Amino acid sequence: MNELLKLMQERQSVRSPLDTKRPIAGNDLLLILEAGRWAPTAHNMQNFEIIVVNNINLLEAIGNIKRPISETFIRENYMQLSFSEEELRKKKTGLLASMFPPSWRNPDFRLDNILNDDSSMQRPLPSCPAMMFVVYNPANRAPASEGDFLGSLSLGCVMENMWLMANSLGICFHIVSSLSSGTVENEVKSILNIPQNLSIAFPCRLGYSVSTPIKRLRVRRDVKDFTYFNKYGSKDL
Ligand SMILES: Cc1cc2nc3c(=O)[nH]c(=O)nc-3n(C[C@H](O)[C@H](O)[C@H](O)COP(=O)(O)O)c2cc1C
Repeated sequence: MNELLKLMQERQSVRSPLDTKRPIAGNDLLLILEAGRWAPTAHNMQNFEIIVVNNINLLEAIGNIKRPISETFIRENYMQLSFSEEELRKKKTGLLASMFPPSWRNPDFRLDNILNDDSSMQRPLPSCPAMMFVVYNPANRAPASEGDFLGSLSLGCVMENMWLMANSLGICFHIVSSLSSGTVENEVKSILNIPQNLSIAFPCRLGYSVSTPIKRLRVRRDVKDFTYFNKYGSKDL
């Protein structure tokens, strides 16, 4: 198989605890940053800065931030869940309900049950020896890009470059979006001295898995499901 495609297929989210006793070598961190450096960005803006955090006290302070879950998240997440592997295989998109706390998994959706289940609303951040926070200035948009859509796309390219490099080095990678919005983002910014005018594009956990990562079902649509030829809707090559 094509080597690059193989690397892309093997890249995955590792949400389990990562070994805090096994730091990431400085050279490997630099390779991941170098991969981010070479990402394509709209107008070559290079609209990002990156904070690498490997100080135990700071990681602990970030891990202790309460990350409330909004009703909107619960509702919209629920709508995309599959309740069996068979359902997920058929749908080819979304996530398995078993990834979430038991009260979220009931196919008979009851928002109250979830909101009243303290154990499901307080999710500790799994351990890790390092995190990276990619930040950007939303006021510094790509030329004429409404809502800085092109800037956001560019940050996605940075993410993918770094993720693929981490994967190629055997380093697990996990995006934690809940640390980059609302009051939680402000708490992170205060801990890391991030200036108020910058936003966190994405935080990620990095490290080596404590145990062999559990093999989980990963699905994708087939190429034919999202490809048309010459005109939208035309499946004939
Ligand atoms: C922009 C973005 C945000 C994401 N946020 C989270 C997150 O907050 N928590 C999480 O566990 N995974 C997060 N993910 C990972 C996706 O859920 C994951 O990529 C997807 O389910 C496919 O699984 P895979 O990465 O193992 O191939 C995010 C991915 C992207 C690209």
